[in-house]
Amino acid sequence: MPARPHQPCVLVSAVALVDDLSRPTRVLAARRTRPASLAGGWEFPGGKVEPGETSAHAARREVQEELGLRVRLGERVGPGAWTLSTTAVMDLWWATALPGEPWPRPLQDHDQVRWLTLKDLFEVAWLTADLPIVEHLAGLLHTP
Ligand code: CDP
Repeated sequence: MPARPHQPCVLVSAVALVDDLSRPTRVLAARRTRPASLAGGWEFPGGKVEPGETSAHAARREVQEELGLRVRLGERVGPGAWTLSTTAVMDLWWATALPGEPWPRPLQDHDQVRWLTLKDLFEVAWLTADLPIVEHLAGLLHTP
């Protein structure tokens, strides 16, 4: 067999922040400002899991860093990690905001956030990598 170059796989962890874990009717999308290749694209807020960190911890940390929001996590969305590219996979966690300080706060890495219901779920320009997950979520969101 020909030798294949080793491709390190990056684990990204993000949240599907919803209004209610038991009956979600809206989910939060955030618009990226960087890098240029992704700027303007909407995504589930999150980021890379750091060495020695759990996926759940990374999801909570990233949301706190990016949106200034503390969250409680539920289960993972879907049967396992979602493929983002040939080198990256993503865990997506159901999450709700913990009561706390006034929000929204100044954003890092994003310039807009939007709550989306089933009706307007596809109104924003989702990152291509997130689209299969959005399709999956469309089957799980309830009508308000
Ligand atoms: O903030 P950090 O540098 O840890 O990570 P990031 O830049 O937010 O995410 C790492 C990569 O995952 C990005 O370059 C995106 O391509 C991808 N990503 C994605 O496809 N969908 C998301 N909801 C979050 C990240």
